[in-house]
Amino acid sequence: MYPTDRPRRLRTTPALRRLVSETDVRPRHLVLPVFVAEGLDGPKPITSMPGVVQHTRETLRKAAAEAASVGLGGIMLFGVPSRHDATGTGAVDPEGILNVGLREVREEVGDALPVMADTCLDEFTDHGHCGVLAPDGSVDNDATLEVYAEMAVAQADAGAHVVAPSGMMDGQVGRIRSALDAAGHVDTAILAYSAKYASAFYGPFREAVDSQLKGDRRTYQQDPANAREALRETTLDLAEGADMVMVKPAMAYLDVLRSVAEISDVPVAAYQVSGEYAMISAAAERGWIDRDRTILESVTGIRRAGADIVLTYWATELATRLDR
Ligand code: PBG
Repeated sequence: MYPTDRPRRLRTTPALRRLVSETDVRPRHLVLPVFVAEGLDGPKPITSMPGVVQHTRETLRKAAAEAASVGLGGIMLFGVPSRHDATGTGAVDPEGILNVGLREVREEVGDALPVMADTCLDEFTDHGHCGVLAPDGSVDNDATLEVYAEMAVAQADAGAHVVAPSGMMDGQVGRIRSALDAAGHVDTAILAYSAKYASAFYGPFREAVDSQLKGDRRTYQQDPANAREALRETTLDLAEGADMVMVKPAMAYLDVLRSVAEISDVPVAAYQVSGEYAMISAAAERGWIDRDRTILESVTGIRRAGADIVLTYWATELATRLDR
């Protein structure tokens, strides 16, 4: 008996495979995360993320111009200040490195490329937590919301089209929305890190932003064991006015991404984080996997699982290999 059902028929030529392809990756789907550091003479390589650097203000401008020219969906800025303090004042200071970077990137790209800002305090605090601390050393949710509100307004003032609260404080989206509106920034969008896990895959990022953290973020980021919680977090963020939601990391959380995409009525993003980048880079460097194919396959998988938007450190490079 020969099989009558032959799925292989549709795989016989490249053109047939192209015809029936369900998922595509285009430059517009990709957002490039970038780091801008204060007080550097030149771009500083991040050893655990080969090919990624801490930018100076000048090289950041160039990276932004390049991102726009290859047609990326957006650019996401992280700041690396030279001074840290208990409440992260560098985050709200219009002359703080992140706000300066946002202003200059916006000047460079105008409205051609959506400019996004990480709205979180960990890069700016001397203890490295994503919020301000209560006297007992715990992260004070409600006090942190007030700083996030101020930070988001400073970022919108600096020209961010999108602010992206990533600190997993309860109520952060609602508090930021009301602060933006009160400041007249009704059109500044919020990309909410709705389901952000306490993940070991952020390892290299700690080097990327010179993180000061000792300890962990498990009292505010999600437990990797939990999926339902991600839906609760997403539902709350949507109710508070999130314009887009995000799942992070991506590859170890594709099931979460799929279920968030199923309930979300706004665009869904996923973040291919520093450890995912490092893992693929390291294996490719050893010749153990094909670098280019693995990069595209990993991003295709994230899209297939339900991401409209993928944040990836390969965004610019990958875009040059893709159809517009
Ligand atoms: C927090 C933040 C982190 C990342 C993005 N935003 C680190 C953390 O929560 O520990 C990680 C990004 C990456 O690993 O690529 N502001």
